[in-house]
Amino acid sequence: MSTFQAPKGTYDLIPPDSATYLAVREAIAAPLKNSGYGYIETPGFENVELFSRGVGESTDIVSKEMYAFETKGGTKLALRPEGTASVLRAALQANLHKLGNLPVKLWYSGSYYRYERPQKGRYRHFSQVGAEAIGAEDPALDAELIILADQAYRTLGLSQFRILLNSLGDKECRPVYRDALQGFLRGLELDEDTRRRVEINPLRVLDDKRAVVQKQLVGAPLLRDYLCDACKAYHEEVRELLTAAGVAYQDDEKLVRGLDYYTRTTFEFVHDGLGSQSAVGGGGRYDGLSEMIGGPALPSVGWALGVDRTVLALEAEGIELELPATTSVFAVPLGEEARRVLFGLVTELRRAGVATDFSYGGKGLKGAMKSANRSGARYALVAGERDLAEGVVQLKDMQSGEQSPVALDAVLDAVRERLA
Ligand code: HAM
Repeated sequence: MSTFQAPKGTYDLIPPDSATYLAVREAIAAPLKNSGYGYIETPGFENVELFSRGVGESTDIVSKEMYAFETKGGTKLALRPEGTASVLRAALQANLHKLGNLPVKLWYSGSYYRYERPQKGRYRHFSQVGAEAIGAEDPALDAELIILADQAYRTLGLSQFRILLNSLGDKECRPVYRDALQGFLRGLELDEDTRRRVEINPLRVLDDKRAVVQKQLVGAPLLRDYLCDACKAYHEEVRELLTAAGVAYQDDEKLVRGLDYYTRTTFEFVHDGLGSQSAVGGGGRYDGLSEMIGGPALPSVGWALGVDRTVLALEAEGIELELPATTSVFAVPLGEEARRVLFGLVTELRRAGVATDFSYGGKGLKGAMKSANRSGARYALVAGERDLAEGVVQLKDMQSGEQSPVALDAVLDAVRERLA
């Protein structure tokens, strides 16, 4: 193994590509910030119990994929595999739900860790931007979140994604369905692992990707037919609000998410250019999660969009984000005296808010101009001994190649004027 090799299933974000990741994060966050969501940041690790209780002991995430460890002090922690349980934990800890202002709307952006089999679009360290609306049962809130994710993707220029929508019922109707499904599944020819799943989490069997299993599932009872009247009405309202907002979705009765906390509304954003790891984002309602982790009843809804997969989706659609060059002005000193003078000007420009960079390392004119080009700067400031003797620097337009002398004390104004 090379010393410079990042761990398996991880990769580094490196310029210039890293700028796209930042822009994607910002594009997903923008509609949230604009809709009453406040920023929250929680630790990268939590007590392991939070996830085993919240996400569910029987889920792949908790049983196989969690980076769980014991500290030297004997505390059992886990790197966070997802954000919802942490955000709810933090909201409860800070008593945000008691401030008389429900729902508590929060957004977050960060790294998550799952010990999965790595492949394109599936990593052990990945990045999500997410949103949680805590403490309100209102179909408009579910619709709001789906609409905002749709808006984020559209702003990025994405169009080849679909929204899959389902209702998983609530604590009244789901157990009835669960029994019916279990009865059906017990009659099938299934391998031992799957039979075990039938007993622990039968809904997940519907999600089995294998053709042999899918074939046997034809005729399985559908949750849709078991939803209680309240769940049906709730779901119908979410669907109508989405339609009224012009957000297209597909009903997917078999959509079962890989986390145990979901109730009622569940959805996934899938992108058709991504192959097997096609889910770019997902979420839903989790009316029972607060109680699962020891809190009061707080019906809530949220989603998380995968930043890595969203970037892959942009690539798949051939979309290049228009990212403004980070540097506006690049200073090229020729000689020691010019170096001191230009370094002073660079500092002045930066303090005035102009994005400026400098040719370091005593490069000659040719090498320095190459750096200026690479920086993407719109202007170069070039100065040698003769310029300084005349009290000027040359301001060069990197696009037209035109160059004109500017008095040393007029550089800031000249640059501002041209950049305006
Ligand atoms: P999730 O579906 O597990 O949901 O993850 C959301 C998104 O994170 C996925 O759609 C995918 O884009 C990305 N993702 C997940 N695992 C990986 C991985 N190994 N590599 C790359 N990307 C990945 C949740 O995490 C829920 N907490 C969402 C939620 C929020 N539900 C309610 N509120």
